[in-house]
Amino acid sequence: MYTITSPVPGDGTAITALLDRAFGVDRARRISYRLRDGIPAIPALSRIARDASGRVVGSIAYTPVAIGPAGDEALLLGPLAVDPTLRGHGIGRTLVGATLALARALGYRRVVLVGDPAYYRPLGFEPAARFGITVEGESPDRVQAMALEPDAFETVTGAVGRIDDFPSPARQATEACG
Ligand SMILES: CC(C)(COP(=O)(O)OP(=O)(O)OC[C@H]1O[C@@H](n2cnc3c(N)ncnc32)[C@H](O)[C@@H]1OP(=O)(O)O)[C@@H](O)C(=O)NCCC(=O)NCCS
Repeated sequence: MYTITSPVPGDGTAITALLDRAFGVDRARRISYRLRDGIPAIPALSRIARDASGRVVGSIAYTPVAIGPAGDEALLLGPLAVDPTLRGHGIGRTLVGATLALARALGYRRVVLVGDPAYYRPLGFEPAARFGITVEGESPDRVQAMALEPDAFETVTGAVGRIDDFPSPARQATEACG
């Protein structure tokens, strides 16, 4: 028995402990962490799973990233983690399904991630290589993509990069004004 909710600030320590258990304390060295290091996760898409006692047993978050030379925006799914003692009960699948539905409802168009294809393909992800999308240093087989609306990847291709490597439209407008 578990419930899916938005995290509150007091959950931060429990979420960090869960991620340390799932990915190891050196997880910041992972390539996907380099794409989101220092970039806040999107609060509207962060969710946790709590067990009946209120303990945090699952967590998912999304960070904006930019794809290709045009810097087309996408969501980077992750990290996703479930308490090792509660795996195989559908918590991960529920966290992914609930937040993808939210992302779609909020108007996000596309999602990418680095992860095990055996886990993510049954959840509806497809090989990002199909769209020419890559993550530098990662095996193409581990890079997955999902279009949240038809043809969302039609003109989007290239390497996934940090969102802050691309000027936002607002920043461009300010610079253009002087
Ligand atoms: C991957 C992880 C989030 C899965 O969470 P979970 O709650 O155990 O997953 P679910 O119970 O929702 O599993 C959904 C389905 O995927 C299968 N599955 C679970 N882990 C899997 C894995 N590592 N590889 C392939 N399939 C997997 C389940 O058997 C289930 O299949 P079913 O629909 O036929 O029953 C969890 O194992 C975890 O935290 N792992 C360590 C961190 C990690 O690898 N995170 C993912 C980022 S790459």
